Amino acid sequence: MRAKPLIPFYLIGIGALMLMLGLSLVGFYVSTGETEEEGADMDPVELGEEVVTSNCTSCHGENLEGASGPAIENVGAEMSNEEIADIAVNGVGSMPGGIASPEEAEAIAEYLTSIAE
Ligand code: HEC
Repeated sequence: MRAKPLIPFYLIGIGALMLMLGLSLVGFYVSTGETEEEGADMDPVELGEEVVTSNCTSCHGENLEGASGPAIENVGAEMSNEEIADIAVNGVGSMPGGIASPEEAEAIAEYLTSIAE
């Protein structure tokens, strides 16, 4: 068996490269997470808009004008923040619950109230 001393070094090189790639990915995710957390602390209306855009428009329409679900662009004028937050967490009628977390629901209510009237 002839020794091939270069192969282990080659493998170590690849390993080190993967490690660096992995670490930079971790760094990327960590910094993204921090940004989101700061956003949540800073402006609930903005967070609410984000959550509504990703979680609610599929049923309530791109501009909340209604689709398979009713229009909710004006619910902020008709319902209290507590009622809206309750619906976002628990659902109502044929709308399923569990779509938003309680923290998200408060931001959603603030956002929907800010765009109503
Ligand atoms: C799976 C589809 C679906 C999704 C996703 C959804 N909804 Fe609904 N929503 C409905 C339906 C259907 C109704 C009507 C329920 C009924 O009265 O039977 C409704 C009703 C509502 C109402 C009451 C409207 C009124 O005038 O009575 C509010 C407020 C509401 N949704 C908010 C939200 C928010 C906020 C989100 C995102 C967090 C969301 N919905 C996501 C389907 C959905």
